[in-house]
Amino acid sequence: MQNTKLTWIQKILVKDKKERKNIVTVANNLVMHLHPARVPAAALDFKYTWGLGGISTVLVVLLGLTGLLLMFRYDARVDYAYLSIQALETQIQFGSLIRAVHHWSANLLVITTALHLLRVFFTGSYKQGRSTNWIIGLVLFFLALISNFTGYLLPWDQLAYWAITVSTNLMSYIPVIGFEMRNFFLGGPQVGQNALSNFYALHVVFVPFLLIIILSYHFWKVRKNGGISQPIQKENQRVSYVQTLPNLVRVEYAAALVVIVVIVLWSMIKPAPLGPIANPFNSPNPAKAAWYFLGLQELLLHMQPLAVLGLVAVLGGVLVLTPFFDKEEEDIGLYFRSPVGKRAAMWGALLGLNLTPIIVLLDEYWIDLLAWMPGVPASISTGWVPFLTTLMVMAVIYAVFRSTRVYQTKKANHSEAVLGVFAFIVVALLVLTAIGIFFRGPNMAFVLPF
Ligand code: HEM
Repeated sequence: MQNTKLTWIQKILVKDKKERKNIVTVANNLVMHLHPARVPAAALDFKYTWGLGGISTVLVVLLGLTGLLLMFRYDARVDYAYLSIQALETQIQFGSLIRAVHHWSANLLVITTALHLLRVFFTGSYKQGRSTNWIIGLVLFFLALISNFTGYLLPWDQLAYWAITVSTNLMSYIPVIGFEMRNFFLGGPQVGQNALSNFYALHVVFVPFLLIIILSYHFWKVRKNGGISQPIQKENQRVSYVQTLPNLVRVEYAAALVVIVVIVLWSMIKPAPLGPIANPFNSPNPAKAAWYFLGLQELLLHMQPLAVLGLVAVLGGVLVLTPFFDKEEEDIGLYFRSPVGKRAAMWGALLGLNLTPIIVLLDEYWIDLLAWMPGVPASISTGWVPFLTTLMVMAVIYAVFRSTRVYQTKKANHSEAVLGVFAFIVVALLVLTAIGIFFRGPNMAFVLPF
């Protein structure tokens, strides 16, 4: 049954009754392509998804619309890029607001997709045939980061220039192809006109194109999987369903409106930052990467770049493979799987919160691997050693959860133990990011922010 009731706004906008009905039918059909006709009533529980997938979708749409408007005035030549942004800020009607909405939506997208990823992980929603969508989701998260990263350079201010210089330097440490890869993306050995043109093309054509295609597939897969995950029903329990229209769609519209209003209001109060024009001869001190890469930049202060890249690669690989090794399907749709899972996640998070700053401080003031291992190549003492130690810490956490009584008399099963290690990694990364943002001053020395 399709809902053909008209909203007041549709009545005002379209005077002809028949045409109004057609518009509603088309709109409803569009909605029904994205959703099944009925959804489990429990799927409407906001506390289950926190609307994070939907909010990310709204942000992607906002980014597309504001990005398109910005393209009318942005000039991707090094001599004009900064001036065109300045003109947007000071001379063009609503230019500053549109830029701010684009800027804050992009930053928020990194946060909402990361939180969506966490929600999916913590409710085990990569199980029961959802492994493909989990991997697709990981690609989407990567694309959200890449679109932010490529957009970062476009204002061509000091912040942009040096953040991209610092981040792309990391690329050259990838064995064999790293240096060539960096030169390929920058169009030469340095950040200059070629880099700006390449990043602009990636930002406005390549990444959005991939995002639209992959996102469409993501939505289709959610539908194909019979909607979002739900806890497995007991034998005598019946799932109660509600019509998608209007129940689910009403909630989605309301959430979308709230997101848009909040972002526009925030953008009116807080314009997007714009520093002094890029100066390749004067590096700011400290030269920091974008905030979402500061956790990795912090790690670089403690181990060789190759070790950091190795850890990122291992973590990425483990995330991709998680659904294939976690076959425990009974606990799908339940936050943290079980009381044992909850305990494991809590211990993992607490460990990450305490251990990470302790190790950072020890490495800052006491540990000196180079001096402690004289004659040993740096690639081993500050590369392999911290790399393998970090992996070992994670393996030990996993083994402890598997072998000790985590909750009452119960030990964690594989799924619950992985959850504990994951909570540890997430919190450790957050702590590293906070240290990078607040506790690093000139020459990246440790400073107190108060
Ligand atoms: C631009 C980024 C993304 C958008 C717009 C998006 C959108 C959505 C939406 C609207 C849903 C329906 C349920 C919900 O709202 O939670 C969903 C479900 C899902 N997403 Fe995403 N997503 C994105 C990124 C990701 C990421 C980073 C992951 C994980 C790596 C992921 C994995 C999944 C999975 C497995 C489901 C099914 C969940 C379930 O059955 O409970 N998505 N996504």
